[in-house]
Amino acid sequence: AGVAHEINNPVTFIYGNLTPASQYIEGLLYLLTLYQQHYPQPAAEIQAEREAIDIDFLVEDLPKILSSMKMGANRIREIVLSLRNFSRLDEAEIKPVDIHEGLDNTLLILQSRFKGKPGQPEIQLIKEYGPLPKVECYAGQINQVFMNILSNAIDALEEAKGERRRARGENSSSLPIPSCPLPWIRIRTEVGKISSSGLPSGNQDWVTIRIADNGPGMPQTVKERLFDPFFTTKPVGQGTGLGLSISYQIVVEKHGGRLWCESAPGQGTEFFIEIPIFGHRA
Ligand SMILES: Nc1ncnc2c1ncn2[C@@H]1O[C@H](COP(=O)(O)OP(=O)(O)O)[C@@H](O)[C@H]1O
Ligand SMILES: [Mg+2]
Repeated sequence: AGVAHEINNPVTFIYGNLTPASQYIEGLLYLLTLYQQHYPQPAAEIQAEREAIDIDFLVEDLPKILSSMKMGANRIREIVLSLRNFSRLDEAEIKPVDIHEGLDNTLLILQSRFKGKPGQPEIQLIKEYGPLPKVECYAGQINQVFMNILSNAIDALEEAKGERRRARGENSSSLPIPSCPLPWIRIRTEVGKISSSGLPSGNQDWVTIRIADNGPGMPQTVKERLFDPFFTTKPVGQGTGLGLSISYQIVVEKHGGRLWCESAPGQGTEFFIEIPIFGHRA
């Protein structure tokens, strides 16, 4: 928790000061143009210096430099924030947890993202909760895993809509409109582990939580790198690529569980989370 905090403070100084700095610079540049207008024939020394610093280029480039500095600082802030949320949860204790309560709380936070908007159908939620005992785990961490996987599913479904719109716009008459399946997310819970045949093994010491979506799915190249830190296919500013690598650490390293996914292009995606009921005795 310490390191993320130490980084966050100075980054906040930088980010916070960039806006007034841009405004000051804008003011100075305007003052400069006023000088130019009123004194078109400056002294030789000023004229020489204008050429030496290439004033026209400088004036054009400075705002661009500032805006990319702002983007960079913002990005560091986002990354630090994810790390901080993660490490803060470290401090919580392990205790018997109602998994369904954790899922429902996470869904509540994400509620607005399930709702439809003009041009975007509502995401249907299919809950198939089986009877589960309480599970010995770090509640906050496990909720963060649900949050990461569910927000990825929503991102994927939203992205699919965007793709469809783009496809329609570009080939409005030459291609038939692709069939537009109703987007859904399905959450299943049950006691037991998933055996190699893909069926629950009935092992009473484990619970399995599956989160599936009917989004675009992933090609093998993405699947291979899914859990790598900073791996993302989302545009700059949208994805940090930390969600799944943090989730992997939580499930596998902190809880002695398993986390994997099944997905193929056009086939949707299903994440499997398996956690031992009686805790991880590392
Ligand atoms: N349900 C999903 N459907 C399609 N792709 C997914 C899904 N979940 C994760 N991904 C892919 O895995 C990548 C990494 O996810 P994540 O670690 O959460 O980082 P981020 O969401 O910041 O990109 C995503 O960029 C995306 O390409
Ligand atoms: Mg994510």
